[in-house]
Amino acid sequence: MPRRIISAKPKLRLIIIFFIIHLHHLQMGTLISDTASWKNLKDHVGEIDKTHLCDLMTDTDRCKSMMLEFDGIFLDYSRQRTTVDTMSKLLTLAKEARLKQKIDSMFNGEHINSTENRSVLHVALRASKDTTINGDGKNVVPDVWQVLDKIQEFSDKVRNGSWVGATGKVLTNVIAIGIGGSFLGPLFVHTALQTDPAASKSAGGRQLRFLANVDPVDVARNISGLNPETTLVVVVSKTFTTAETMLNARTLREWISSALGPQAVSKHMVAVSTNLKLVEKFGIDPNNAFAFWDWVGGRYSVCSAVGVLPLSLQYGFPVVEKFLEGARSIDQHFHSAPFENNIPVLLGLLSVWNVSFLGYPARAILPYTQALEKLAPHIQQVSMESNGKGVSIDGVRLPFEAGEIDFGEPGTNGQHSFYQLIHQGRVIPCDFIGIVKSQQPVYLRDEVVNNHDELMSNFFAQPDALAYGKTPEQLQSENIAPHLVPHKTFTGNRPSLSLLLPSLDAYRIGQLLAIYEHRIAVEGFIWGINSFDQWGVELGKSLASQVRRQLHASRKKGESVQGFNFSTTKLLTRYLEASAD
Ligand code: F6P
Repeated sequence: MPRRIISAKPKLRLIIIFFIIHLHHLQMGTLISDTASWKNLKDHVGEIDKTHLCDLMTDTDRCKSMMLEFDGIFLDYSRQRTTVDTMSKLLTLAKEARLKQKIDSMFNGEHINSTENRSVLHVALRASKDTTINGDGKNVVPDVWQVLDKIQEFSDKVRNGSWVGATGKVLTNVIAIGIGGSFLGPLFVHTALQTDPAASKSAGGRQLRFLANVDPVDVARNISGLNPETTLVVVVSKTFTTAETMLNARTLREWISSALGPQAVSKHMVAVSTNLKLVEKFGIDPNNAFAFWDWVGGRYSVCSAVGVLPLSLQYGFPVVEKFLEGARSIDQHFHSAPFENNIPVLLGLLSVWNVSFLGYPARAILPYTQALEKLAPHIQQVSMESNGKGVSIDGVRLPFEAGEIDFGEPGTNGQHSFYQLIHQGRVIPCDFIGIVKSQQPVYLRDEVVNNHDELMSNFFAQPDALAYGKTPEQLQSENIAPHLVPHKTFTGNRPSLSLLLPSLDAYRIGQLLAIYEHRIAVEGFIWGINSFDQWGVELGKSLASQVRRQLHASRKKGESVQGFNFSTTKLLTRYLEASAD
């Protein structure tokens, strides 16, 4: 800071510093928190704090205006702590954040991932063949379909037994190796499809497993009960450099070649990557590699070969095509629907409202179907890797917290776990996801309310329990012992939203995926951050490399641990000593 400013009078000094910061913001692009609509919403919180959901819910016009339907998906957000006025203020915020222009920039292939100088075009992965989507001056859709056609051809061959293993046996089992975005999305979709009657029929007796963790325990679990002769390994890595994936790939290459000979690798290992040179260097025939592109972010890659290949091998290409069509339906809606009727936009705005204005840092994802048990882990990555940022897209430190903590479990399991905290402890906005028709209905002869109705009773009850709560007066009228009244009181006024899907098949799974992907993008666009990079994962990775080098030097040359702080040196030394015998 120049000496003249330091010597200025304190008040004047403050004014000058404020002016410099402001000027810096103007140069770097205005922060959303400096806009009139943001400040307007901040002021509006006081109004909302005077309300309670049990009163807001009596206004049927308000509730009606907070329900909408698109292509079978029904959204009810009337249990959010919002009024009609709140929604209109949020829509003004969207305008001031230039949300429409930002969405258009994404669909137009502009380099909105500015720190990596890349476009963000996962929507092109599920575009129909006749669509034009330009990335870097060229229509990328033909490239997408070239890979999709190749996947269809290859997966058909493996499934019908015209591509066999080295000993002539049909490859009925697939292990997909990958981590993060090269794992969580495909696992979510696989878990959701597993019990869908059409998909499971098409899977026949085939098995699909996922090896992600570098922990040798995960290797053991994955190969347990499998015969290399009937197993196909798909190595999935955008970069083909991720330490965990590459070590797991070398481990399974060894598993195959020690059982069947090194020449078997070409029949038993294929790859999905953007880095085809490294695929070849690893020893996988480039003809057996399925490409994707740097305009697909890892956590947005499930609709590329990352997900489409393993899922097509398991369920057949037509099932996966339906999944892509579902995602496409939401892409079109997101791109074209007016914001007041746009599901991902509304969900994104409500999340911003909950996080940045009402101060609720977490979100619970609560699907009422076991088939969606891997939805929350997938959305955790999509959301927290995308929006867990501390600076704006222009590099200015944010004066507010962006991102949210996502977690969740299917109902009703979660009810017997963390719902206590949600009902009487911290306020956590909840997404309730219900399905009208179960994938696997059960009708017991003597029961009128079938098993799915029983599950769905909870889906309908929980949002109202959270919204209305239970007052001490109600408890007293029930003659509850006075000393128990505080313990049995529910404050209510806890926000949630409900999504109701007609069924859970490949198409609906695609829709659900795209709703969350776009909602998360909306949040990032409003906060003014780059939702498409992930520099925060780098520091830990490079420190792990330093440790790896130390372990190598200590084991190979007996070198003592050096270059680490006192605590890490102690821990590492103990680990090396204890694991030596
Ligand atoms: O966790 C960091 C990350 O880079 C994710 O963004 C990505 O999905 C994952 O690692 C796996 O990367 P790759 O597909 O390159 O192996």
